[in-house]
Amino acid sequence: MKEELMRKLEERIRACQRCPLGQLRTNAVPGSGSYNAKVMFVGEAPGYWEDQEGLPFVGRAGKILDGLLETIGLSREEVYITNIVKCRPPENRDPTEEEIRACAPYLDSQIDIIRPKVIVPLGRHSMGYILRKFGFEPEPISKIHGKTFEAYTLFGKVVIMPTYHPAAALYNPPIREELQKDFMKLRELISSFS
Ligand code: URA
Repeated sequence: MKEELMRKLEERIRACQRCPLGQLRTNAVPGSGSYNAKVMFVGEAPGYWEDQEGLPFVGRAGKILDGLLETIGLSREEVYITNIVKCRPPENRDPTEEEIRACAPYLDSQIDIIRPKVIVPLGRHSMGYILRKFGFEPEPISKIHGKTFEAYTLFGKVVIMPTYHPAAALYNPPIREELQKDFMKLRELISSFS
């Protein structure tokens, strides 16, 4: 059931022309991982390599994400990784409000189908969208990263734990440390579900 719904949604994303990014992409990037994932990571938008390969977080930021997942014993296959915007903005600029508005219904559907127990927004765009969606007021990422927010949905409770975007850690060791600490919190959170 989940499989069929997700496959149909991915087909729609790959054919999408709801905003001008549809004309510019090489590949749309619906997301990857398990449709039964307890944990869902939501980044911002595909970059160059993601656009080339049609997969999320396969570039440099992706290597950081892989490393963080490994330190808490998670593989890409058991989580679900996606972005708010499914097509690459030119020159890797930030997605616009219009692009986010056009694309976010796909993310909303992915959340409804997967029914994760934890959502981890990566970076401020994703944090802003996800917190507002569940009725919370966003704050600067430096202030709320690693904090948890409990939301009640039609499919049950979901815990939101925003953290920094892995790309922010590329040349910034203190942020890399904060990310690592947040992932340790995530590990504790997940162990409380199993
Ligand atoms: N940055 C993102 O936000 N998402 C990706 O998929 C890759 C880099």
